[in-house]
Amino acid sequence: MQAPRGTYDVLGDQALARTALEHQARNVLEGAGYQRIETPTFEATELFARGVGAATDIVQKEMYSFDDGGGRSMTLRPEGTAPVCRAYVEHGMHKRPQPVKLWYLSTFFRHEAPQAGRYRQFWQIGAEAIGSDDPAVDAESILLLADLLEAVGVRGVRLRIGSLGTPATRAEYREELQAYLRAHEEELSDEVRGRIDLNPLRAFDSGHAGTRAVMEAAPRLLDRLAGDDAEHFAEVRGMLDEAGVPFEVDTTLVRGLDYYSRTVFEFTSDALGAQSGVGGGGRYDGLIEQIGGAPTPGMGWAAGVERMLLAAPPTPVAAMPLDLYVAYADPTRRAAAFQLAADARKWGHSAQVELAGRSLKGQLKAAGRAGARYVAICGDEGIALKDMESGEQQVVESSSVMHHIGHGI
Ligand code: HAM
Repeated sequence: MQAPRGTYDVLGDQALARTALEHQARNVLEGAGYQRIETPTFEATELFARGVGAATDIVQKEMYSFDDGGGRSMTLRPEGTAPVCRAYVEHGMHKRPQPVKLWYLSTFFRHEAPQAGRYRQFWQIGAEAIGSDDPAVDAESILLLADLLEAVGVRGVRLRIGSLGTPATRAEYREELQAYLRAHEEELSDEVRGRIDLNPLRAFDSGHAGTRAVMEAAPRLLDRLAGDDAEHFAEVRGMLDEAGVPFEVDTTLVRGLDYYSRTVFEFTSDALGAQSGVGGGGRYDGLIEQIGGAPTPGMGWAAGVERMLLAAPPTPVAAMPLDLYVAYADPTRRAAAFQLAADARKWGHSAQVELAGRSLKGQLKAAGRAGARYVAICGDEGIALKDMESGEQQVVESSSVMHHIGHGI
């Protein structure tokens, strides 16, 4: 049996690297007042259909949906923002001081064609700030992802930002763009032509040469922003400048989810191949209303764990050091050895005990392999405690083993 296509096991150094990443994320995000949240792995399909958008690739092609046995359609979460917003509404978080700042480190599922950096089950670190439309929220959110990528050591990072304005502006712009695309229909790829009605903005994303040429001269949403949206965007840019975060304004930045309004952004890494997006996000002021809550602004991002680790030089991460390995001279001492290791752990030391019935020689080898600082050998004459650094060995009382591990032989 093998792991399903597009999934993988996390082992050894990879597991250690993930632990380090989790600590870095926690430092950056909890340092800015974000609190951890974890939501269920599956949710009602309708949450994503309404939240992420029925016309998106994610909802149309990539969701793992199933009947829960009771006639309800459930979906393995393809992303975390709609679930966090669902939780915000469900737990009445509007009563807390706003914005409510939440972060997560979770698995997500998308039925995509697997390739380097693209999986069917992947991990994201995400951060959502819900309840304020202040441009400082946008700027700080982006800054925190920049800080995280720097802490992790992601190479060749670039930031692109854009603004989508409000739904009303976008609706007007959409019509203008649709008219423009229809006027150039015969130069477009079949796929783009087929989606003029459903999702004309995706035309900016196309790799098709004819479409790209048409899109060069297409009207840009950024030029159509209403006064307060343009001002909001200017303030976000101003604060990023102030914070020394380099960015490029991208008038054609498209994201794969429908809930965005105003600020959108994406970090890419030159160290990655085709799947160069390490993290991205934006403002989603209409999402909570869309899923049945009161109108509430929100802003956030998610960054791919696999892609961050792929784009960061591997840093040696040490496994937890082993304070004590407990061996026994013969099987009659096994229970005493077991007890000594358990006691050591209670005292806050890391401890392992022989678990495979090796000979004493084999146990000492195992202790060496595990890098134990001390080895205790339970025998007829008591406990022989050996300092593996100095080579010194002494028979000690069982009651004083903990003292010796802490203070030396
Ligand atoms: P997203 O751009 O779809 O946004 O995903 C965010 C990041 O997740 C991507 O930049 C990428 O690093 C990683 N990612 C996405 N799909 C895959 C995959 N199949 N395999 C490996 N990594 C992947 C969102 O999910 C939004 N919820 C972000 C957000 C939060 N917006 C506002 N708040």
